[in-house]
Amino acid sequence: MRLDKYLCESTDLTRSQARRVLSAGEITINGDVVLKGTHIVRENDTVQWDGETIEPVGLRYIMLNKPPGFECTLRNSQHPQVMSLLDIEKKDRLHTVGRLDVETTGLLLITDDGQWTHKIISPKHRCDKVYLATLDSTLPDTAEARFDAGILLEGEEKPTLPARLERVSPLQARLTIQEGKYHQVRRMFAALGCHVTALHREQIGPLRLDADLEPGESRFLKPHEISALAGDSTD
Ligand code: URA
Repeated sequence: MRLDKYLCESTDLTRSQARRVLSAGEITINGDVVLKGTHIVRENDTVQWDGETIEPVGLRYIMLNKPPGFECTLRNSQHPQVMSLLDIEKKDRLHTVGRLDVETTGLLLITDDGQWTHKIISPKHRCDKVYLATLDSTLPDTAEARFDAGILLEGEEKPTLPARLERVSPLQARLTIQEGKYHQVRRMFAALGCHVTALHREQIGPLRLDADLEPGESRFLKPHEISALAGDSTD
């Protein structure tokens, strides 16, 4: 990584401040003063600022139990943002892996690794997302077959990918989908004449929401969880 980027990512320095400390000779790599931001920092290099070692900020992968009433987008809204629930530095680098509606609860992943996010949200990668929906009326007998065949939602050109429905009780159903169209789960149930009164995401790929994570609580993912979600490992 370029030294100027490394300095901005691992400290509170802005780009112009990083340029200033560099040209003032305050930055060393493995003991040698480096004046140029274009210098490449290698994995085992020790970068110091005025003699203090700057540790790199690695990529972060977080599981949040989203409570209702929080917004995933950054746009101005009357609702607080999910990021306000995290007590973590440099939040502006983080993004949510897909979105949950304001009133939807449950498993939300947050990261600063865009490639990882792509593997989880791109329909091409067929990563399952499992939702528990509470409905205002019972499902028709044909619900399983219709979800499996794909539903042409209003305003869409193609039907949804096959989705798996499991009836949990007369007014509760578990739905597994592999895409994330706008309000997809609510619209799919609406197409069958059912209104979703509560929606909770339980699982993404192999990762289930921790049962002991209270609404609003979060934790960092473990390395094996990160790679399993990206489809890189099966351990
Ligand atoms: N589908 C929805 O309708 N809402 C969500 O929050 C997630 C999936």
